Amino acid sequence: MRENIISIKGLKVGVASTSGYVYAVRNINLDVRKGEILGLVGESGCGKSMTAKSILRLHDEKRTEYQGKIIYENGKDILNMKEKELEQIRGSHIAMIFQDPMTTLNPLMKIGKQMMEMFRYHTSLSQEEAKAKCLKLLESVGVTPAEDRFENYPFQLSGGQLQRVSIAMELALDPELLIADEPTTALDVTMQAQILDLLRKLQKESGASILIITHNFGVVAEICDRVAVMYAGQIVETGESMDIFYHPRHPYTIDLIGSIPKAGLNGQKLTTIPGAPPQLNRPITGCPYAARCRYADEMCFTKAPDLQTLENGHTYLCSKADLTGEEAV
Ligand SMILES: Nc1ncnc2c1ncn2[C@@H]1O[C@H](COP(=O)(O)OP(=O)(O)O)[C@@H](O)[C@H]1O
Ligand SMILES: [Mg+2]
Repeated sequence: MRENIISIKGLKVGVASTSGYVYAVRNINLDVRKGEILGLVGESGCGKSMTAKSILRLHDEKRTEYQGKIIYENGKDILNMKEKELEQIRGSHIAMIFQDPMTTLNPLMKIGKQMMEMFRYHTSLSQEEAKAKCLKLLESVGVTPAEDRFENYPFQLSGGQLQRVSIAMELALDPELLIADEPTTALDVTMQAQILDLLRKLQKESGASILIITHNFGVVAEICDRVAVMYAGQIVETGESMDIFYHPRHPYTIDLIGSIPKAGLNGQKLTTIPGAPPQLNRPITGCPYAARCRYADEMCFTKAPDLQTLENGHTYLCSKADLTGEEAV
């Protein structure tokens, strides 16, 4: 088994809100292995971004309560690191891109200038060396002609191009892990495919790990080596992405895969899973999916589900060990 770049152990995250504490991450265990593309997938509001942001401790710490550990590859717990140590990791070892590339970019500064600033801040490259690196990076993410784009302001580029620039900025310092939070959600279908291709290409070239966060199982099937399925703040299923895609075991995953639009069904309504996930500002008794689960029986509403582990490492959190989900595919 490959080494881990990040190992999340028993992570719980609570955020103070106007309606009390929201426990958006509820006892998560998750490893990101070196050199893999791992997908974290689940419906909107299930705690994916909260989990991702915890890895870099990007939450407002005055309002946030963490429990558990996030072990970085050097053996240190990110949740216990001093701000200074964390600063070194952010950007140069672990980088993050978001749905909106303008989270990373400054609207008032030319693309080239902001890339140069980053090198000036983090490295001792000369002006010429830094510029040459910027142009090469822009080429490698397909933002061309690089010389022209270098002189452009963000508003002069399309959404897809801006996302490419934000990827270039985040990859400039050769991070070992790139966290991509819904990187293609704001883009049209063609552009989504191009950005996924780009991420895969960059991952192959650099050998970095990528944690890609998405509500779209299609994205997982497209580029991920492994996947973790999240529901109501918990990880309910993990495994090789093709294994999960073709042999899902958790009823939520079965329903999630069943709701992917299939080719050839043009014009037919998209199916969604009936019902809504539980509120995350109060405790959950039994299985969080029970109220929406077509296989649930009385016990599922009262007893917390068991973690099942199959021989190939596929795990799922469900008391019904005999479900196969074959009929959903
Ligand atoms: N700053 C915040 N204050 C209070 N609640 C929050 C905050 N951020 C997120 N939440 C809540 O936490 C839950 C998980 O959010 P999030 O991690 O953003 O979900 P996802 O990324 O899976 O869509 C949601 O129920 C959301 O309403
Ligand atoms: Mg999110």
